[in-house]
Amino acid sequence: MAGGVRIIAVDGPAAAGKGTIARRLADHYGYRFLDTGLLYRAVGARVLDEGLKLADEAAIARMAAGLNPVDLERPDLRSEPIGQMASKVAAMPVVRAALLDFQRRFGREPPGAVLDGRDIGTVIFPDAGAKLFITASPEARARRRLKELREKGIRAIEERVLAEMKERDARDGGREVAPLKPADDALVIDSTDLTPDEVFHRAVSFIDSKGG
Ligand code: DC
Repeated sequence: MAGGVRIIAVDGPAAAGKGTIARRLADHYGYRFLDTGLLYRAVGARVLDEGLKLADEAAIARMAAGLNPVDLERPDLRSEPIGQMASKVAAMPVVRAALLDFQRRFGREPPGAVLDGRDIGTVIFPDAGAKLFITASPEARARRRLKELREKGIRAIEERVLAEMKERDARDGGREVAPLKPADDALVIDSTDLTPDEVFHRAVSFIDSKGG
């Protein structure tokens, strides 16, 4: 257990390594884990499937409000087209509002939870016991994403991956609702030149220092 810390918020841009660290923290503390990006991705996937227009906010918000845990298990959710559409629906206040309850309900169930996303420490759980903001340079993140894609047998060009990453960063960081930014009380870890183990150990010392 992480002492008195029940909610651990892990935010940051795409491919900064926050998913890996968040999952490992959940294992370490015996907490539940939610990758909140999957919620936006599940909504984006259905918008693509059903050919909905982004202007049809009411239909998209209804879909978001009716999301079920099984919707997060679709195998194609991590694809780039779905990621881009997720970033577009994530800029819609009605979609963010519809997904708020799901995240808060998940986080409040015992024994505790680690949530990874963009606005966990700023909007979803501003009172989280420990907040981490994991970042890395766009080039390092593009290289990591490229490696992941190649390991899955997907051919990709580095310049294209970098351009898509910057496009998504600009949209996620520039939107009016819940833009990507570290909470004032978050520990910012730049993982560009760190190993996953180093990031993990820094995170654990910080969380343990909060949990006394
Ligand atoms: O973390 P990810 O790449 O799976 O997220 C996909 C998109 O969803 C991302 O571009 C922005 C959005 N997102 C968000 O706005 N808020 C979150 N808490 C998680 C993801």
